[in-house]
Amino acid sequence: MELKKFRFAGKETEVFVGADILNDIGNKIAEHDPYRIVIVTDTDVKKSYGEFVKKKIEEQGIECLLLDFHPGEAQKAREIKDRILDEMLGFATADSGVVAVGGGIVLDVAGYAACEYFREKLKFFAVPTTLMAAHDAAIGAKNALNSRFAKHSFGVYYPPEFVFVDVETLQSLSQRETRNGLVESIKHAMAQDTDFLEYLLSLPSDLKLSKEELLKIVNHTIDLKLECMKGDEYEMFNPVLHLGHTLGHQIEFHSGFNLTHGEALSLGIRAEAVLANKLGMLSSEEVTRVSSIFEVIGMPKKIPNASEELFGKVIDGLRYDNKRTRNGTPFFLLKKLGAPPITINGNSIPKEQIKECLKAIS
Ligand SMILES: NC(=O)c1ccc[n+]([C@@H]2O[C@H](COP(=O)([O-])OP(=O)(O)OC[C@H]3O[C@@H](n4cnc5c(N)ncnc54)[C@H](O)[C@@H]3O)[C@@H](O)[C@H]2O)c1
Ligand SMILES: [Zn+2]
Repeated sequence: MELKKFRFAGKETEVFVGADILNDIGNKIAEHDPYRIVIVTDTDVKKSYGEFVKKKIEEQGIECLLLDFHPGEAQKAREIKDRILDEMLGFATADSGVVAVGGGIVLDVAGYAACEYFREKLKFFAVPTTLMAAHDAAIGAKNALNSRFAKHSFGVYYPPEFVFVDVETLQSLSQRETRNGLVESIKHAMAQDTDFLEYLLSLPSDLKLSKEELLKIVNHTIDLKLECMKGDEYEMFNPVLHLGHTLGHQIEFHSGFNLTHGEALSLGIRAEAVLANKLGMLSSEEVTRVSSIFEVIGMPKKIPNASEELFGKVIDGLRYDNKRTRNGTPFFLLKKLGAPPITINGNSIPKEQIKECLKAIS
């Protein structure tokens, strides 16, 4: 088992990464001595891992309450978080804890609820079971919820006591969910480590990954993310973290969440590569290379259901972006592969130019 650490506001979070380690989750929780535990999961993960984690914690003599909600990005909403909070009342004491078992959506909702309940008193623990959550959503203190207008309109910082990744759990992911998670690894690799990029592109095309392959991907992606978070624990300024996300979040939201986060992000990175080229930053050869990278891992070739109306919604939606300032919504654009992106003020980019970039990948 590998142990990594990150800090947020003086508090340290341990990150355990290993294979076949889930049996140990009860012990690890017990070391933190919570009175009771609320486990938050989704209705699918509940059957596969939620109930197992509950059993392991109960074996330590700790009483558990298992709460769930349906899977899907639409559940990452205040209403669901409020329902979880209501259901915790009367059970969770100020010296209890919350364990999130699931993907990035479960982690965001559970972390947000843990933060609000009794005003930041409960201990939070993350047990990510998707690739996306294991090496991205669980790493750092951010928790966000969506609004009717956009992704991540509301957010809190609430770091877990620990993150516990058993890569064996990632072997039951569908091919689509494995691809989804790989896009964040590719994002980091494109900006920070082109050797790792080559490795990711050489993975078997069916993406049935061995534990060794998963360990390598998860460990290395976490290391690259932690490098970005050095000096930026709030994850606000490091441009690598946000590469592709400005348009990616809009494309995801306006697909009605029919695209996964990773699928939309791949389209966002491609559209923003075209934009970087139009602004004289990225060569045409590298724009083609960026597209082919996502083709290799089986991402959508085009924005689905592209239309003038959709482009209008995506461009208008930029005003709801949570990074928007008086200077507009920032873009994080590549100058070349293997180097960090450059932050560009949104107000300096004409809307027509953004539309052309969306059209270029439609
Ligand atoms: N807070 C952050 O810093 C941060 C960072 C990255 C991503 N995110 C967010 O995370 C979300 C995406 O996370 P996700 O991709 O994990 O989505 P998700 O939580 O919806 O999980 C995807 C699907 O996989 C299923 N699943 C989970 N574990 C499984 C397993 N082991 N085997 C089989 N199926 C399993 C789930 O039931 C779900 O249907 C997005 O909302 C994204 O914005 C947040
Ligand atoms: Zn992302």
